[in-house]
Amino acid sequence: MALTTALPMLTASDVVEKLRALRARQPVKYWAFYSSQLGGIVTDPALMIIPFDDHMVHRGHGIFDTAAIEAGKIYDLEAHLDRFIRSARNSKLKLPSRDEMRDIIVRTTAASGRREGSIRYWASSGPGSLGLAPAGSAEPGFFVMIFAGLVYPDSWYTQGLKVMTTTYPIKPPLYAITKSVTYLPNVLMQMEAQEQGVDNGVFIDEAGNVGESSNMNVAFVSPDGALVHPKFDHILSGCTSLRLLELATALQVRKVIKGIEVRDIPVAEARASREMLLIGSSVKVAPIVAWDGKPIGDGKPGPISRALRDLLTEDMRSGHDRLIEVPYA
Ligand SMILES: Cc1ncc(COP(=O)(O)O)c(C=O)c1O
Repeated sequence: MALTTALPMLTASDVVEKLRALRARQPVKYWAFYSSQLGGIVTDPALMIIPFDDHMVHRGHGIFDTAAIEAGKIYDLEAHLDRFIRSARNSKLKLPSRDEMRDIIVRTTAASGRREGSIRYWASSGPGSLGLAPAGSAEPGFFVMIFAGLVYPDSWYTQGLKVMTTTYPIKPPLYAITKSVTYLPNVLMQMEAQEQGVDNGVFIDEAGNVGESSNMNVAFVSPDGALVHPKFDHILSGCTSLRLLELATALQVRKVIKGIEVRDIPVAEARASREMLLIGSSVKVAPIVAWDGKPIGDGKPGPISRALRDLLTEDMRSGHDRLIEVPYA
């Protein structure tokens, strides 16, 4: 098909104008962005950009992580940095020092002026070629975005949500435990769920054990009242799950739950649970009430999901050893 209009040759100021027009068509809530490539912070979303030949863009050779800003403090950043550093090692990526990354994250949060929201940060191997291995001269990149975060409907908490077993294969363990930007299976799983009229999907591993959801972990309350979570050797180590497994000991002491188990969970056993939970930094803890069209427990949100959510909310507000003060101007 012949093009009827000439393709314009653009100047630098045309490009900035086009990027601003693109953003005007997109209602994004991006408040501040740090880029090591720019050497500073921008607050205009049109300028939150990365070169097209960055290895993270065209080969998926990058990692990321996401932490929450709650009441003007950053929650559990050290756990997220631990995972980021592990992901970098698995991906052969170079990072700034941990202190430098923490400092950039805190200062970018301060520059955003926002007291509630999310922090997502990335490491890339950098631009310089379109090859498979990074360019010899590639400068590793570090980026931090302060944004509104993912928001889920209230009904997820009041009525619970529905999930399906995805038809997409789970990532092999090395890729599942590494938080790389290669999220194609996770994206396809969520799109498939939406097409089927449910809220999300669940990966099952080759042995028939429960894996995780698209960007969240899943856990269960067994028929005899224990909190049961899949092992973290073939799924992402959710910072929220890890913290909840610690906080849940308070429920065990109060005899609200019978025990805490981290182990393989065969699908048939999982389906017979009293409660099923979706867990993650963005969703916190939400009850799953139906899986593949069949109710979990009595098909209503259960008390343990509520109790765990309350524990997490309390920890996010007053877990002083887990909170970093942001030096807002
Ligand atoms: C695949 C996957 N599993 C689980 C999680 C939950 O992790 P977290 O609790 O650290 O948000 C996430 C979110 O980062 C994820 O992307």
